[in-house]
Parts: sequence; C-alpha cells; structure tokens
Amino acid sequence: MCLNLAKLFRRIFLFFFFLFMKQILPNSTVGVFGSGQLGRMFAIEARKMGYRVHTFSPASDTPTGQVADFETVAEYEDLNQVKRFAQNVDVVTFEFENVPSKTVEAASQFVSVHPRGEVLHIAQNRLREKNFLSQKNFPITPYRHIKTLEDLQTTVQEFGFPSILKTAGFGYDGKGQAKIKSLHDCETAFEQIKGNEAVLEAFVDFEKEVSVVGARDEQGNFAHYGVIENAHANHILDCSFAPAYLSEKIQKEAVEIAHGVLDALEVVGVMTVEFFLTKDEKLLVNELAPRPHNSGHLTIDACATNQFEQQLRAVCGLPFGSTEFYKSAAMANLLGDLWKNGEPNWAKALENQNVKLHLYGKQEARCGRKMGHLTTLAATAESAVEIIKKSRNKLKQK
Ligand SMILES: Nc1ncnc2c1ncn2[C@@H]1O[C@H](COP(=O)(O)OP(=O)(O)O)[C@@H](O)[C@H]1O
Ligand SMILES: [Mg+2]
Repeated sequence: MCLNLAKLFRRIFLFFFFLFMKQILPNSTVGVFGSGQLGRMFAIEARKMGYRVHTFSPASDTPTGQVADFETVAEYEDLNQVKRFAQNVDVVTFEFENVPSKTVEAASQFVSVHPRGEVLHIAQNRLREKNFLSQKNFPITPYRHIKTLEDLQTTVQEFGFPSILKTAGFGYDGKGQAKIKSLHDCETAFEQIKGNEAVLEAFVDFEKEVSVVGARDEQGNFAHYGVIENAHANHILDCSFAPAYLSEKIQKEAVEIAHGVLDALEVVGVMTVEFFLTKDEKLLVNELAPRPHNSGHLTIDACATNQFEQQLRAVCGLPFGSTEFYKSAAMANLLGDLWKNGEPNWAKALENQNVKLHLYGKQEARCGRKMGHLTTLAATAESAVEIIKKSRNKLKQK
C-alpha cells in the first residue's frame, strides 16, 4: 500500500517535473565557468548548434574567450560580476572544476547550474571524492586522510611502499603528488604538502589506465563512449585510444560503474570516471572529472556526437546524440615541450591525410602545458596509435 502510494507520488512528481522542465533552445546563451581548451571545444560545438557562449574566468584572450561570444574577465570571488554574468545567460556549465562553492551558489540564485554545486564540491577535493566513492561502495584503492607527519609515517607502513601522497585540492597532471618509496621520504613529502589537506593512497601496480566519459540528463538518461584506454607520461596524459583492449566483461563493468557514479551524484552534464585496471583484472576508480575529459577528445573526430556536444545537450535538456564510433581512434597530446626548438613542423605531421590537428590558441608554450592534440581514425586502435605517434614525431623534424 505504502509502496503504491510512493509510486503514485513519484509519477505525479515526474509529470509536473517534465511539464515545467525548461529546455534551453538554440540562440540562448550558455555560460561557462573556466576558459581553457575544454571550454573552447565546448564553445565550438555550442556555436555550431546556434547557441551563444559566455565564458567567465580571471584571464583574458583565453582559449575559450577566443571563440566565445562574450568573455567576462573577473575573479571567481567577485560575486557582483558573477551575479551579472548569471543574469545574462540562460544556463551555466563548467569546463574547470575548481570554481569556489560561493561562486556556484551565487550563480545558482539566478540560473540553473549543471552539474550542480554539490557535484563540483565533491569532485574538486580528493578526500571528499574518495569518501563519497567508498560510502557508495565503488571500488577504490585504500586511502587515508593525513593530518600530521606521524599519521603519514604510520600509514605508509600499513599501505606499503611505494605509496602516493596527494594534496586533496587543486591537483592536476600529477601536480601536488609525491611518491613515497621509503620511510625516509616521509618528511620531504609532508613538507611539500605545505600544510594543505592531504590524502595518502596505496600504490596501484596497474596493468593499464582507462576512462569512461559519461553524460547524464535531468531525466536520468545516460550516454557513454565505451571504454577509452590511456597512457600517461610524467603523470600527464600522453595518448588515448578507443576502444580499449579489454574483455567484454570488464568493459561492461567499467560502464556500469561509471553509470552508477553519475546516477549516485545525479550529474546533469558530462562526467568522466578514470580507472586503474589491476594486474588481476579488477577495476578501481582513480578519480572523477565533472566535465568532458582529455581522454574524450578523440570523440570529436571519431563519433557521431562528441563529448562537448553531449555536454551541451545534457545541460540544455535536449536528447542525447548517438555516441557511435565511425572507426577505432587514437589521440596524442601536444605539450609545450614540442615548441622547444621553434614552431613544430605542422605540414610534416599532416602529410598523412587522416590525421587531424586541434590547437587551443595558447600563446605561450610552457613545458608540460597542453597546447593541442592530434587525432586519427583507423581500422584498429593499435594502428591508430601507431599512426598518431608517427605523426607527432614528425612535428620535431626540421
Ligand atoms: N595510487 C596510485 N597508484 C599508481 N599510480 C597512480 C596513483 N595515483 C596516481 N597515479 C598516476 O598518476 C596519474 C595522475 O594522478 P591522478 O590521481 O589521476 O591526478 P591528476 O590527474 O589530477 O593529476 C594517474 O593517472 C596515474 O598514472
Ligand atoms: Mg587523473
């Protein structure tokens, strides 16, 4: 009886929910917090579909700003500017997860923000993220909140060597991480954290790293691109390819976990789940990105609907597009290091007519900075990887 009543109320709720659900249609303005390459690729997709894009960040002449219709240059803490921005857009999304909660709250008073602030709050802090994942029984590597040097010294002995100490906030591309190989490393590693909140993780001797880029809309519909395989160099993503070389069982499991995570967080938008696959074929969630992801860049050339268009559709309440792959694909990142001896040899890299170049419009090529990427499609992922690495190497030729 109770159950039936609950079902009835749910139906009534959903009826009204859908009746009043607002679709944000083309010609509306989508606001984006952040102004890097993810926002740029999002803006390109949004403009293709007739939307206007307004980016908000502290920098000017940014990768996103260069292709957006409007660029607000202000600190995230400047709540007057945030208010003005929110009043001038029809919906807000992110390309960068480290936007302060107060900023998101301020914007949410005037306009829908997707994904919601709580999702961002969890995903921008490793400790909160890991607490969430473990409470919901998603598989992760052992971790512990580290408050003192003594905490660290006891816990590394429990986890074994090596272990990895990470700052809880503001880490990306391996920044804010220290590998602890022996008890002697503890002091230096703890000093490097500089009093910031920190997490110790047991080291995962993984077979490979993979990711699932998922999209979820307000009604709970879910779209994904299967499993993408990722190789890192110096903790920075180097190369991704799809489909990943995995058994069907593991592929299915990875997608199910990702789906579970997006549902548990009630994500509206795109979220990427990064995994380790252990040598004994177990999937462990490494981290969550509440936005499109570097590993999903290959969907731009390889899929009927790419991750950025899917983000747009999710936050605007439009149906998802097909995530079908035309072919297997590979993507290679182009880091600032490639500019060390002058402008890379673009013509040489593009001699293969199946290689596509994506550059993000960044003026300064610093070592380790993501400047762009190359993508190619091929009959197999293996041959796509071979082609893309060959093309990237040609960039260094004179
Ligand atoms: N516990 C771990 N065990 C083994 N390798 C790790 C571990 N944590 C991180 N790494 C390596 O470092 C890379 C970056 O770490 P990650 O936690 O994803 O931080 P971010 O991508 O935010 O810099 C991972 O993709 C992986 O290659
Ligand atoms: Mg990562």
